[in-house]
Amino acid sequence: MQKADLDWKNLTFGFHKTDCNIRYTWKDGAWSGGTLSEDQHIPIHIGATSLHYGQTCFEGLKVFEQKNGDVVVFRVEENAKRLIRSCEKIFMAPVPEQLFIDAVYKVVNANLKFVPPYGTGASLYVRPFVFGSGPQVGVKPADEYTFMIFVTPVGPYFRTGFKPVHLIVEEEYDRAAPNGIGDVKVGGNYAAGLRASFRAKEQGYTEVLYLDAKEKRYIDESGPANFFGITKDNRYITPQSDSILPSITNMSLVSLAEEMGLNPERRPIDVEEIFSLKEAGCCGTAAVITPVGSITYGERKVVYSKDGNAGPIATALYNKLTGIQLGDEPDTRDWIRVIQAGSP
Ligand code: PLP
Ligand code: COI
Repeated sequence: MQKADLDWKNLTFGFHKTDCNIRYTWKDGAWSGGTLSEDQHIPIHIGATSLHYGQTCFEGLKVFEQKNGDVVVFRVEENAKRLIRSCEKIFMAPVPEQLFIDAVYKVVNANLKFVPPYGTGASLYVRPFVFGSGPQVGVKPADEYTFMIFVTPVGPYFRTGFKPVHLIVEEEYDRAAPNGIGDVKVGGNYAAGLRASFRAKEQGYTEVLYLDAKEKRYIDESGPANFFGITKDNRYITPQSDSILPSITNMSLVSLAEEMGLNPERRPIDVEEIFSLKEAGCCGTAAVITPVGSITYGERKVVYSKDGNAGPIATALYNKLTGIQLGDEPDTRDWIRVIQAGSP
């Protein structure tokens, strides 16, 4: 396969045009067949519920080229299931799991030349999304939905890649309410976080770390990723909260941590615990594992990385996870699906 002419090693986490996207419509209780389209725009009704009432959700997953040329996707079934939960929570027509998986395969196969070559550190980011495309003026769910996927080759989410980032505990803004929609991947959660994230960046931090909205005491997550810590006695700890996104990367790390003897714990984490951790990290599809170098909380600051490098446990977890994704480590948990076998 002749690859696209791109500077693979220096890709940013941004939109890079590919050949096509895929689109489906839900009307009268059924999804249409998928149509591949070269158009990067969507004609949309001015009364669409996604525009007015926030009926929109998305997913994010990655496709990799392995050493033998296989093009593979990581844990696609989990993203399909989470999209169903997101749709249901905001009263949209869910996309059946098999339809989701078929759509991923079709759109990736139609854009194979944009799958970054093995060894470049880049991947093909797959962005499925669903939105209310039918009009309503009263606050009601739409009677028409659109499901689309675009793909774009990407580099690391945080510009520094696998280098420590700096977080600030967000004390003013909340991202999600305790019984709200923080546990699903809907657009409004990200809109809610834009101002806090912008302010943190202006102040020289990479991102914010949210606390639970009710007590402002327990760690929730960062804007685009879950949070984990490594305790001084080598335990992997990560927040249990109803208002964070159940991260598929974090779920995978918990399983790897178990195997590595890190006795993972998912439980409420008091923000004071940040001062006794020896390592911390953000994790997600886009963020992969991003080591946390420091966290600022009010007047106090804890520094995990003094030399600008990741700690040994975050590094071991990163190597294990990316090793499985790239086929350099055995996929003993059945996380990998081959979309296109490499030519021998
Ligand atoms: N938390 C938030 C708010 C996210 O947007 C993401 C990204 O998807 C994650 C966590 C990480 O989830 P995952 O590992 O499934 O990508
Ligand atoms: C992802 O990791 O896939 C995300 O969606 C995070 C961010 C880009 C919003």
